Amino acid sequence: MTETLTLAQRADQVLRTADGREKTALSHRHATAWFSSRADGAEPITIGTATPPLHPARPDRPELLSPRDVPKRKPGSPTGRIALLHAVAHIELNAVDLHWDLIARFCHVPMPLGFYDDWVKAADEESKHFNLMCDCLEALGSHYGALPAHAGMWRAAEDTAGDLMGRLAVVPMVLEARGLDVTPGMITIFRNAKIDHAVAALETIYAEEVGHVAYGSKWFHFLCGRENSDPKEVFHTLVRKYFHGALKPPFNEEKRAEAGLPPDFYWPLADEIPPRA
Ligand SMILES: [Fe+2]
Ligand SMILES: [Fe+2]
Repeated sequence: MTETLTLAQRADQVLRTADGREKTALSHRHATAWFSSRADGAEPITIGTATPPLHPARPDRPELLSPRDVPKRKPGSPTGRIALLHAVAHIELNAVDLHWDLIARFCHVPMPLGFYDDWVKAADEESKHFNLMCDCLEALGSHYGALPAHAGMWRAAEDTAGDLMGRLAVVPMVLEARGLDVTPGMITIFRNAKIDHAVAALETIYAEEVGHVAYGSKWFHFLCGRENSDPKEVFHTLVRKYFHGALKPPFNEEKRAEAGLPPDFYWPLADEIPPRA
C-alpha cells in the first residue's frame, strides 16, 4: 500500500518508527520511491499533509541524559573513539528525523518540488550516515545504544516547530554548519589511530554535509526573496530568537562558503571577534 502514500505520510511514518536500523531502511525506501516518482512519465507522489509527532519515536537505548551528565572521555583513547562515533551516530539519527520532520511539519507552506527533492536526498544521506556509524561501532565491538546520548538534540525542532525560516536558520545553517567545523578534527583522530573504515565513513559524511548546509541556505534565501526581506538580517534575528548561545569559532570558512554561508552571516553571532576585522 505504500505506493499510494503521500510524501508527508511517508515522512510521518519514518518519524513514528523507533528502531534506528528500521527507521533508516524505511527512510531509504521512501527516498527511492520519491525519486522514481520524479522521473519522466512516472506516477507522481503528492506532497499531502500530515500531523507529525512533536517527538519522533526512538529506541529504548541509548539512555538519553542531559548533556552535562554524559560522561566525557579522552578522544585519543579506544573508549574515547567509540564514544565519539556513538555521539555522531546519535546526531545522524536525529538528522534523519529532522529532515523528514521539515517535510511533514511544513507541508502547508507552498514550496517548489525542488525543496522536497533536496530534503528527501538529505534525509536519505543521513540514513546512510547513521548506518555507517553503526557499522564502525560494531566493527570496534560496540553498538548504537551501548552508551548514553544527549537528550537535548530535538530542542531545535521543538523551538522552531511553527517557523520554517527559523528551522532552516537553526538546523542546517547553524547546527549542520557546525558539523563542517568539527568533522576534520574527528577524521584526524581516526587517521592517527589508523582506523581506516571510520576515516572513510567520516569523509563521506563530511562531503555530503556541505550539501545539507547548502540546501538550508538556498531555501532560506528563497523564502527571504519571496518576502522581499534581507536574508542576513532575518538570519541574525531568527538565530538569536531560537538558538541558545553564541556560535563557536574556529569556523570552517572554506566549506561554509562552499555551502553558501558567507562570514557576515555567522561572525556577528560568534562569541569572539573575527581574526581580521
Ligand atoms: Fe549526516
Ligand atoms: Fe546533514
